[in-house]
Amino acid sequence: MDIGSFAGLFLRVLIDKGFAAEGIEVDPDHIAIAGDHGVSLVKGDAFQLGEYFEHDVYDIVTCINFIDPDVFDVSEEKILQLCGQCKQALAPGGYFLVNPPDNMAFPRRKVLDMGFIRCEREEHYCFGVLKLKRHLILKKADGQQ
Ligand SMILES: C[S@@+](CC[C@H](N)C(=O)[O-])C[C@H]1O[C@@H](n2cnc3c(N)ncnc32)[C@H](O)[C@@H]1O
Repeated sequence: MDIGSFAGLFLRVLIDKGFAAEGIEVDPDHIAIAGDHGVSLVKGDAFQLGEYFEHDVYDIVTCINFIDPDVFDVSEEKILQLCGQCKQALAPGGYFLVNPPDNMAFPRRKVLDMGFIRCEREEHYCFGVLKLKRHLILKKADGQQ
């Protein structure tokens, strides 16, 4: 599951690599371009993710270049809402990949307290298709909803 998929190019790569991948995007122009690349995006608001997608099923949720003041009116409340929605979509043990900008006060402790475990660096490479050096990789703890 990819959050804020723009024109679906990242999803195109994942699909071509054999992943069953889908994404959500709010801008109809971006969705149309994704369609031109053979990627069908769900039109919707990522902050209401649970209304569009099943809960507790996704192995990986990616939130790349999304937590950014240029994308939405960033506040701690909004970030926690988004992370909570992503956690809800994930299967227990699933991964949440997010790259808050370096200069942003990301509420890491509060996000971890939602029921995520921070992964060790070696796990950054287990997905094969991603260059993840600057990403925060969190794992939904077992037993979490
Ligand atoms: C900076 S782009 C990042 C695109 C892509 N993830 C990447 O790394 O190239 C942010 C995307 O999120 C979309 N977006 C913004 N707010 C959104 C929301 N509330 N729900 C879903 N998509 C949203 C924008 O339309 C845009 O396509």
